[in-house]
Amino acid sequence: MGIVAKPMLGDCREVLKTLPDDSIDLVVTSPPYADRRKHTYGGVAPDDYVAWFLPISAEIKRVLKPTGTFILNIKERVVNGERHTYVLELILAMRQQGWLWTEEFIWHKKNSYPGKWPNRFRDAWERLLQFNKQRKFNMYQEAVMIPVGDWAQKRLRRLSPTDKVRDVSRVGSGFGKRVANWVGRERVYPTNVLHLATETRNRRHSAVFPEALPEFFIKLFTREGDWVLDPFMGSGTTLKVAYRLRRNSIGIDIMPEYYEMVQRALASMQPYLLEPEGVYDDGQTSRS
Ligand SMILES: C[S@@+](CC[C@H](N)C(=O)[O-])C[C@H]1O[C@@H](n2cnc3c(N)ncnc32)[C@H](O)[C@@H]1O
Repeated sequence: MGIVAKPMLGDCREVLKTLPDDSIDLVVTSPPYADRRKHTYGGVAPDDYVAWFLPISAEIKRVLKPTGTFILNIKERVVNGERHTYVLELILAMRQQGWLWTEEFIWHKKNSYPGKWPNRFRDAWERLLQFNKQRKFNMYQEAVMIPVGDWAQKRLRRLSPTDKVRDVSRVGSGFGKRVANWVGRERVYPTNVLHLATETRNRRHSAVFPEALPEFFIKLFTREGDWVLDPFMGSGTTLKVAYRLRRNSIGIDIMPEYYEMVQRALASMQPYLLEPEGVYDDGQTSRS
């Protein structure tokens, strides 16, 4: 089966219109944040962000299959000393548009550089909002399991009597656990916090996300041969990872230099022969 990785040049507000309905399994993208990269590829004022994004999310909704997922990497910036509310407003507006806001993952940036601000600490996380068109969507949880970790060795060595029975949550959530179930297990499901270092190697694009980020979602929400879309592809991280994992992909960028850079990068890639797969950690072990 041949795998397609197709970068496209243009404004995604226009280019998305050329893609067929219900054709994409996963959209994973990091749009320009409000005002952030004004000097490189233009910025959108925080107050205009929702109005700017809604036509794009409408097109994403049209091209996404009913079983598909949309992952939006975004973070509200500080304006006049407080966090702007455009992300919160966007979530509400997208729900009005018919999206389900299914989940929020957090990208914990393990290597964010230290700094000092008078009224806040360094920002070490970003949102990864998950939107779906319907409650039942494709999800392959086994594909992103992680090693059980050191805690299990210590915790499971000495089991208490309650560990051997189902311990029902005291807050009445109906959630229960039986710790003894974990004995002998080597891999467990991850949490909704992704502990990943920011990408520092790629100097040709100012806002690259680490390969392990699209990789996690591509594995979680697609299978080989499925279609992945990144309407703000930048340096093409999503396309490169999709190609390596044998998923078809489409990327769009408004900047000719990024489009050409992605074309060159993809031309030099060979499926199967690429970097080792990313490792998702549980935040307890120190890897970077
Ligand atoms: C935050 S970067 C994406 C980085 C990407 N995730 C990566 O790993 O390289 C956002 C990208 O969106 C592009 N962009 C901005 N406005 C756009 C638009 N209207 N249509 C398509 N691309 C756009 C910018 O040129 C930039 O490369």
